Amino acid sequence: MTTEELEQLLAQQPIALLHRLARGRVQRHFRAGKRRLIEVLLRHSAENRAGFESDLMILIGEKPARPAPAPAPLHAPTARKPKPSGAPRRPGQRPAEPESQELGIPLSTWLEGLGVPSSSQPFIPDAWQEAAIAKLRESDVVVSVPTGSGKTYVAVEAARRAIAENRTVIYTSPLKALSNTKYTEFSKIFGADQVGILTGDRRENGQAPLLIMTTEILRNLFYDAGGGEIDVRLDTLGLVILDESQYIADPERGVVWEETIIFCPSQAKLLLLSASIGNPHDIADWLTSIRQTPCHLIKHSTRTVPLRAGYLHPNGKLSPLFRTAGIPHGHPSHLHPEAKRLFEQYEDETQPSGRRR
Ligand SMILES: Nc1ncnc2c1ncn2[C@@H]1O[C@H](COP(=O)(O)OP(=O)(O)OP(=O)(O)O)[C@@H](O)[C@H]1O
Ligand SMILES: [Mg+2]
Repeated sequence: MTTEELEQLLAQQPIALLHRLARGRVQRHFRAGKRRLIEVLLRHSAENRAGFESDLMILIGEKPARPAPAPAPLHAPTARKPKPSGAPRRPGQRPAEPESQELGIPLSTWLEGLGVPSSSQPFIPDAWQEAAIAKLRESDVVVSVPTGSGKTYVAVEAARRAIAENRTVIYTSPLKALSNTKYTEFSKIFGADQVGILTGDRRENGQAPLLIMTTEILRNLFYDAGGGEIDVRLDTLGLVILDESQYIADPERGVVWEETIIFCPSQAKLLLLSASIGNPHDIADWLTSIRQTPCHLIKHSTRTVPLRAGYLHPNGKLSPLFRTAGIPHGHPSHLHPEAKRLFEQYEDETQPSGRRR
């Protein structure tokens, strides 16, 4: 937009919004009247016009009219040097905190690239996904891969194969809400008549080949099956999928997962999915020791979807806490030393080809 358009837009805003925009940019802005504030803001905007307009749009609650160019990384030589502020520093006095906007990046930059990929891109399964599906033919499988890696694909394809072979499939999650979501998702994939749900609140299509339930309901089914009192057929059961199976470590509910695994009929394959089991080898070894078939572990820690973590400043800017490819990362030196240590440890663990990007 032209400077005149920007001035008009600023003039249309309430003074409170102008003060928010001025925070960290203009010294003692709260003393200025609206006219004076707009003048100073306009002068300031010349230093980083794109960033200024982007912040204004965020405060107004609109999307920028055109994508703002990504701001230069804050540590780059082109970055504006902080102006000395106030009285000169006395010896021994701590340096003043940098102005707040120096620490952050606009929220829109931070969120760039998130969303559902375009459906025109061909879906190519990852090698670990194919390996997990293949291994389920002859063994139980524990999948321990980061969040957002595509564990659902393994569950869906394994279920599809079992149903095609006239076996029934049970999928469990630890939460009623997640079970409801999966019921909707799987009904779209397999067709409504192929999917049923059994939770404390809902009981629909209980004879369907793919049943969704909470893990507690499945454990209770296995209990009741001992007395022959259930209306779900277990003799045709071919596959049991325990999603979010890290709950096995939960001090109170973990026993439910243990009992479900122990009571699971031997002819059914078990598929445990989790992003956060700390000791997947131990779980796989335990399954191998108590079940008739060996258990295969699929494990990796490379994130397909990079983790983004940041501190949201009241001025609407974010200080990123991890280095994420393509996103300016601000000043890690301003982190608390313990936070910095943890983040560097995280980067070491998750970026095998060298930490610093
Ligand atoms: N091989 C692949 N290539 C590209 N996209 C994929 C692939 N596999 C899965 N996806 C997509 O990745 C996204 C996340 O998948 P999914 O929900 O299965 O992750 P998850 O591993 O179950 O994560 P969480 O731990 O959060 O439950 C989905 O949009 C899915 O379509
Ligand atoms: Mg999942």
